[in-house]
Amino acid sequence: MTIQDVLNKKKQQQKIVMLTAYDYPIASLADEAGVDIVLVGDSLANVVLGLSSTKEVGMKEMLHHTKAVVRAVKKAMIVGDMPFEAYQTRPQAAVDNAKQFMDIGCHAIKLEWFDQCPSTVEALVKAGIPVMGHVGLTPQTATDMKVQGRDANAAKRILESARLLQDKGCFSLVLECIPKELAVKITEELKIPTIGIGAGVGCDGQVLVSYDILGIVSRYQPKFSKKYADLAPLIVGAFKQYTEDVQKGNFPDDPHSFHMAPQEIQKL
Ligand code: KIV
Repeated sequence: MTIQDVLNKKKQQQKIVMLTAYDYPIASLADEAGVDIVLVGDSLANVVLGLSSTKEVGMKEMLHHTKAVVRAVKKAMIVGDMPFEAYQTRPQAAVDNAKQFMDIGCHAIKLEWFDQCPSTVEALVKAGIPVMGHVGLTPQTATDMKVQGRDANAAKRILESARLLQDKGCFSLVLECIPKELAVKITEELKIPTIGIGAGVGCDGQVLVSYDILGIVSRYQPKFSKKYADLAPLIVGAFKQYTEDVQKGNFPDDPHSFHMAPQEIQKL
């Protein structure tokens, strides 16, 4: 999946499917399932590392997990999510940090809207790095995880940032937690694809957090997320069964054990 393929999908009115992954097994399965884009999201912080905010995850952790995803994915596009420290504290460092994602095998990077976003995107694009923008709810800086752009003025600001990011060279845009009417307006106006999360069905594509749709984590589930499987009880059940088997001496049984030949036992 190339940048051109993603752009073509919008032209051909084919939906773009994006899913987050942070490790080798889930990334392989997402790729096998045929998703178009695997995003190594900074949601790594809350979903996998047990941190309370995406702001707490840094380049070191993001690169470590991205390397595992890159090893797994054979077909999909891989997008590395720039953590807060990579560009919001020092915009001039954005290009160097983005290059680190590209050097380990990402095809593009994503960054959230912030005050200096347009000039940062411009610098990244000039350096040859494909950029996915992110507007609406931007968890790295949001004080309140609520729907953005419900009133006309706030909606106009989001529309304006979307236009700016397209003008500065973003190849696509995540729209997070905005009313579906606003998402439709942005999607209709922009030439680049929009990928929604909590932005309704009118976007050019959708993204969700893999662990949420698998029902693995017991964290707060936003209204827009949908559980396609409920794996947590299955996993706990398997772990309980294993615990009981070990405690009762039922595991490992003979089929799961190795043997020595009788003559070797004698010599021993
Ligand atoms: O980190 C993440 O999971 C994201 C998605 C919500 C788009 O940025």
